[in-house]
Amino acid sequence: MITAALPYANGPVHIGHLAGVYIPADVYARFQRRLGKDVAFICGSDEHGIPITIRAKKEGVTPQDIVDKYHGIIKKSFADLGISFDEYSRTTSPKHYETSQDFFKVLYEKGKFTEEVSEQYFDEQAGEFLADRYIVGTCPNCGNENAYGDQCEKCGSTLSPSELINPKSMLSGNVPILKDTKNWYLPLNEYEDFLNEWIIEGHKDDWKPNVYGQVKSWLNDGLKPRAMTRDLNWGVPVPLPDAEGKVLYVWFDAPIGYISFTKEWAEKNGKDWKDYWQSEGSDLVHFIGKDNIVFHCIIFPAMMKAHGDYIMPKNVPAFEFLNLENDKISTSRNWAVWAHEYVEDFPGQQDVLRYALLSSAPETKDNNFTWKDFQTKNNSELVGIFGNFINRVAVLIHKYYDGVVPQGDVNSPELKEINKAAAEISGFLDNYEFRNALSALMNLARFGNQYLQNEEPWKTIKDNPEKAAQSLFVGAQIAVGLAQLCEPFMPFSSEKLLNMFNVEKKSWSEVETQSVLIETGHKINESSLLFSKIEDNVIEAQVQKLEDTKQNNKKTNPNANPMKEEITFDDFTKIDLRTATILEAEKVEKADKLLKLTVDTGVDVRTVVSGIAESFTPEEIIGKQVMILLNLAPRKIRGIESQGMLLLTTKPDGKLSFVTPDDSNVENGIEIG
Ligand code: MF3
Ligand code: ZN
Repeated sequence: MITAALPYANGPVHIGHLAGVYIPADVYARFQRRLGKDVAFICGSDEHGIPITIRAKKEGVTPQDIVDKYHGIIKKSFADLGISFDEYSRTTSPKHYETSQDFFKVLYEKGKFTEEVSEQYFDEQAGEFLADRYIVGTCPNCGNENAYGDQCEKCGSTLSPSELINPKSMLSGNVPILKDTKNWYLPLNEYEDFLNEWIIEGHKDDWKPNVYGQVKSWLNDGLKPRAMTRDLNWGVPVPLPDAEGKVLYVWFDAPIGYISFTKEWAEKNGKDWKDYWQSEGSDLVHFIGKDNIVFHCIIFPAMMKAHGDYIMPKNVPAFEFLNLENDKISTSRNWAVWAHEYVEDFPGQQDVLRYALLSSAPETKDNNFTWKDFQTKNNSELVGIFGNFINRVAVLIHKYYDGVVPQGDVNSPELKEINKAAAEISGFLDNYEFRNALSALMNLARFGNQYLQNEEPWKTIKDNPEKAAQSLFVGAQIAVGLAQLCEPFMPFSSEKLLNMFNVEKKSWSEVETQSVLIETGHKINESSLLFSKIEDNVIEAQVQKLEDTKQNNKKTNPNANPMKEEITFDDFTKIDLRTATILEAEKVEKADKLLKLTVDTGVDVRTVVSGIAESFTPEEIIGKQVMILLNLAPRKIRGIESQGMLLLTTKPDGKLSFVTPDDSNVENGIEIG
């Protein structure tokens, strides 16, 4: 039972999500399938919670609109990148409502909750209790006037709403009042002994230090009861009679999503979901990011323990964060490489991203993604080593042997390298060491390359054909070994390669133990290039995209267009701008937008045709002093020669406004500069 953290459906997924959860989880799931295990790899969109309602409010749409939009985008990008979920569902599905409400009822009936009345901020005008995020006020630590009820983003301190100075509701702007409300709490403190024994004593050696360390520090600080229900109108309704206007806490309902979605999958596939969740023979593994550790190692296990029927996770491999070009990835600042944009910009190159992200997966500490590095990984490693080796083998077999694998020694010592690589990768993946596993795969490709380089079959073919055949027999084994072993990491390339060598996928243990993966006499198919070089201009375009984002983030007016290309002072001096006065104005026949103007420019009186009729009547602009671009080449508009252009700007309502001197003491014909 493999789960990957449910992404919030309040935005698309980016490379940070992919590198820190979904790609490693997919590698692991694919690997387990190859071991012959009965795998359920389950995920879905997390569609409740404050991030969703905030996004909806910002965009002026309903939360349902938001989750419908992003669920679609997210689901598609996972599929496009080959993330092989057995089920990708969503927490607004009916099955999930039913499952999470049932789960809550079991805990309720077993008396596992405590009821507590507390004072919560309430917006009287909106008639709603306010989530911490919905209260803004002055930070008591740094004086930032826009701190949230849960956090000040300026100084980074964690806050509670009662600490804010001058708290205001984000819904109405009014001062919220404190009002009593009843909620159901899970007394986490009662699970401390269980958690200590199970994790602190039981998983000291096999859980990752970052996960173990975080759990230990939470337990050292002592756990407190935590509310499992909230006063909110977006979420799964609390299934109790006296709980009007209350929903399940999003961190209560979301992890139950793993179970709901397993049920949905099981129903479609003739399986029993309990075999995966409630059987001692099942292994449960949660893939998550480090910000999810407390929820998957403390709260969800306590919920499952309280319920009584569930197995505990065998492991919770949590990843650190991935930075982008040395800066924290941020959805709100649009500082990200978005999965759906990558798929569009690099069609057919999903495996390159999978490879690049796996080789810099933030396993033990935060890591960094740069486009330059991405290019190097593709060009030097995938094209230069992996692709190059396989291509040479296939091309030479076609050239010398008509595409038929030649005669070779099935006991050649080199063949052991394939088994060794399979065993190594297996060992690393067992330990969730994805980067090492990928290196072991690449080392086999390196070995193959070196082997061909030493053997030089393109030379020995002339005077020692037996040796050339032996070399290419071994080369073919290694190439097919790579085709088999790269599948968890680069499934698209693996499929291409298996097709190219005309062989079936084998189980991992077969690759680990067999000496021959493709027989002498086996006919292979036409070879095609696996990877292709990524040119500098492609990378530069991506870097430019990020550069544009940086510029955008600096804007004080989001509607302002980016700056145009720089010009020199000499360019500027060519432009002859003058003050002028409109003497006459009349409509141009059969042209709704145009006015014909007679303008005193100080150097002459001339005619200008201007597209301003929708913003001004002729009467209101006669006598107005304006600015004119004097030396613009004349142009015929509707049969009238227009000699120059007036300077205008646009107001927020779309109407035009003249650029004029701010003093009436300016004569006509005075240069502007
Ligand atoms: N949506 C959460 C996040 O993105 C993860 C939820 S995981 C689950 O941080 F276990 F709650 F499902
Ligand atoms: Zn602050």
